[in-house]
Amino acid sequence: MTRPIALHGKQTSLLIESDGTNAPLWLYWGPRLAGALESGPDLAAQPWARGFTLDQPLRFPLFAGYGMGWFGRSAIEAHRDGRDFAFAPDRVDLAQDAHALTIVLDDSIAQIGLRLVLALDPHTDVLSFRSTVTNRANRPLQVQWLASAVLPLPPQADRVRYYAGRHASEFEEQEDRLGKATWLRENRHGITSHDCFPGAVVATPATTESGGLTFAAQLAWSGNHCQAIEWLDDGRRQWQLGVALSPGELQLAPGASHEAPEVLATCSLRGWQGTARNFHQALRQRVTWPGGAMKPRPVHLNTWEGCYFDHDEASLIELADRAAALGIERFVLDDGWFHRRDDDTSSLGDWWPDERKYPRGLRPLADHVVARGMEFGLWIEPEMVNPDSDLFRAHPDWALQLAGRPQQLSRNQLVLDLTNPAVGDYLFDTIGRAIADLPLSYLKWDHNRDLVAAGDASGRPAYRRQVLAFYALLERFRAAFPGVEIESCAGGGGRIDAGVLSRVHRFWASDCIDAQSRLSIQRGFLQFFPPELMGSHVGAQMAHTTGRSQPLDFRAAVACQGHFGVELDIGKLDQDDTGRLRDWIAFYKDWRHLLHGDVWNGSLPDGQVWHGAGSADEWLLFVYRTAPTTQRYMPDLPLRFVDEAADYAVTRIGPGRGKADPTRIAGTWLHHAGLPTPPMKAERVAIFHGRRA
Ligand code: DGJ
Repeated sequence: MTRPIALHGKQTSLLIESDGTNAPLWLYWGPRLAGALESGPDLAAQPWARGFTLDQPLRFPLFAGYGMGWFGRSAIEAHRDGRDFAFAPDRVDLAQDAHALTIVLDDSIAQIGLRLVLALDPHTDVLSFRSTVTNRANRPLQVQWLASAVLPLPPQADRVRYYAGRHASEFEEQEDRLGKATWLRENRHGITSHDCFPGAVVATPATTESGGLTFAAQLAWSGNHCQAIEWLDDGRRQWQLGVALSPGELQLAPGASHEAPEVLATCSLRGWQGTARNFHQALRQRVTWPGGAMKPRPVHLNTWEGCYFDHDEASLIELADRAAALGIERFVLDDGWFHRRDDDTSSLGDWWPDERKYPRGLRPLADHVVARGMEFGLWIEPEMVNPDSDLFRAHPDWALQLAGRPQQLSRNQLVLDLTNPAVGDYLFDTIGRAIADLPLSYLKWDHNRDLVAAGDASGRPAYRRQVLAFYALLERFRAAFPGVEIESCAGGGGRIDAGVLSRVHRFWASDCIDAQSRLSIQRGFLQFFPPELMGSHVGAQMAHTTGRSQPLDFRAAVACQGHFGVELDIGKLDQDDTGRLRDWIAFYKDWRHLLHGDVWNGSLPDGQVWHGAGSADEWLLFVYRTAPTTQRYMPDLPLRFVDEAADYAVTRIGPGRGKADPTRIAGTWLHHAGLPTPPMKAERVAIFHGRRA
């Protein structure tokens, strides 16, 4: 007897079928189904086109095994010295509660067990999919691939939006048509990577910014990964995501289990924005804040682009005074503070204050920052070592390496082998000692290179275990310093993912602070992660990474999309820009409660992009002109996020603008006809505030 098993969210449902013996089947994942599902179509009786087919119909397995009549990609590929390569369960146990389904599959011939847990959050419509494999034989099992999840996509899913990039150019939006060839994205950088975000969004012909059936998924993992979308014989597609394993990387001893990282997936009838909103709501619940709740995100001053390695206590104290006068709330001392670190050629690993730059240690500076009413934060890059360091001279064997192979440097550094407990202990003790007596509220945790020949002491690949050891080290710091927030940075946005998210409080989205570039980088980030976790700074007028110059108002308005900060030498600003920056900081503080709510974004023809934030009751709208207009009249901007039934009081606001009376506009007009936008020169912004009248 088969029985359909359903999980329902607010707007979505999923349906699985199991006869209790054979592999369970995927029936459905999509908009919410209502009513009794036991009476669905008898799919087993569906006709199919015969001719060179198996005598049994091939149905879409929830988690396909290899070699048992499934001709698509398998969700598990494993063997024991070339044997036991096929997988098909002969026992299936299912347990269901209101929102989750646990499925245990056992293959008594291969002696492999699988445990799948699917939980659909009824509030956010985000599906959490986890898989675990167990070796039930008395010989080791070599696992080549274990999908974290298999997701079904309907035949009308025809496009995939995904993100490529490089350092200082993260989240470059790409779109491919889905055909019959398998769509595949694979990352082998050893960290999440700038090049290949571990997630994507799949559209249907109906998908728009705010409407149409749309699917999205992301892997909660900070290492090598792979995702594939494969066309199936019935026109549907399967979407698999998981850890990309190196040869021989995963061997399970008799009785041992391996749990793959989680996949988060969602679908929505509200287009790109609907899937983004679901992710934001779900991921917000996963961030663990010091004190139990997020406090308003403080304005940062980060010293990197203003000072680089040029530290001295007196000028930093002066900088702190200037920062406090501007309204900055957190002062983050970036790279350059530790033992003989004058440039990027040396010292990573030697985590104690530079005796030349800080003869009294860091405490006087940190105390000064706190006395000025700001929090103090510090940059570290624990996983790295420069060959020119006391640490490397004492322990050259502590770097990940392969005997006989050259060690390839990147930014003059090597990666420490965190799978060696002595390395973790050293980092915890040394960094712990450096920060223990500081009034520290924040750590910026960086990682500035890819992993190459990542062999551990025994010569085995350590890519996957390195990520787990990184998580463990982070957690060790969190436990020892529970009041400290942590920022995940990897040369900008090289480690932005839902795996590290539950252990940190902010991401540095990119080393590129050029506001034009940031508009697209931030749009990509916001497709998956909420705005309050997105570090976005006002940089120098001429962006250091691109050489382009933009007015301060434009740079600040782009930084307002996320967790606002300043990263420039504020001592060099003229009086006018100093005043403007002070006003923007005050503006951000006034509105951060809306800026860190729901967000919506999109573009208009003729060189404008827009970003809305808040709720349907009260919102801010930023209209950015990125290129000069070619039109005489500006296009109106339809606002799909407003309530059509309400009236709104709309006011143009912003630093430097006097008080204006609101204009009353019907929600239905804003929704369909749109808000009139003003003519502007390029790289200017117009900001509107709307509230239910
Ligand atoms: C890369 C980061 O992304 C920058 O913000 C800065 O912290 C540098 N590393 C410091 O070396």
